[in-house]
Amino acid sequence: LSLVVLISGGGSNLRALLEAQADEGFPARIVAVGADRDADGLAHAEEFGVPTFTVPYADFGSRDEWGDALLERVREWQPDLVVLSGLMRLLPHRVVSALSPRLINTHPAYLPEFPGAHAVRDAIAAGAPESGASIIVVADGVDDGPIIVQERVPVLPSDDESALHERIKPVERRLLVQTVIDIANGLDLEAL
Ligand code: GRF
Repeated sequence: LSLVVLISGGGSNLRALLEAQADEGFPARIVAVGADRDADGLAHAEEFGVPTFTVPYADFGSRDEWGDALLERVREWQPDLVVLSGLMRLLPHRVVSALSPRLINTHPAYLPEFPGAHAVRDAIAAGAPESGASIIVVADGVDDGPIIVQERVPVLPSDDESALHERIKPVERRLLVQTVIDIANGLDLEAL
């Protein structure tokens, strides 16, 4: 199963996939890593010898133009699956429709709770006793696609946003790696 992974940030979830890929028998191969900016996480790909590309959002006049350029770069690699792993940008409809359902995203909350770009902060602000991590198929709305797998993560009274996020991320990483394995082994994303 060939993957293109798209990031915007530090790429700890990406790193988990790169490390999993180093294990014999991992049934997927990251063929390229892309970003919408000069993301720190691209260094992980370089360390593992995986090609990278950037399609800087700031270089384009509109989300659609950026999306078309991103889609073109992704298609060069002809991936079986595109993984959004901390891509902090909504994909235009035509990108989603071109790639879904072979387009998944990891989200640091127990969807449909706390969708959007501030899921961890929102869980803290809501005083939620627990949050979670979810892996979904990307659809047109914000984090509203079919849920592939999700798991609860407790919130401690002393938690601030980063403490909770650091507790969520290992769960995300484990769920993401397992989901890629499941898809490689035949999980039917069309049936979700
Ligand atoms: C992850 O929690 C992801 O779910 C969210 O942003 C975070 C990215 O972290 N969208 P990293 O860049 O993988 O470390």
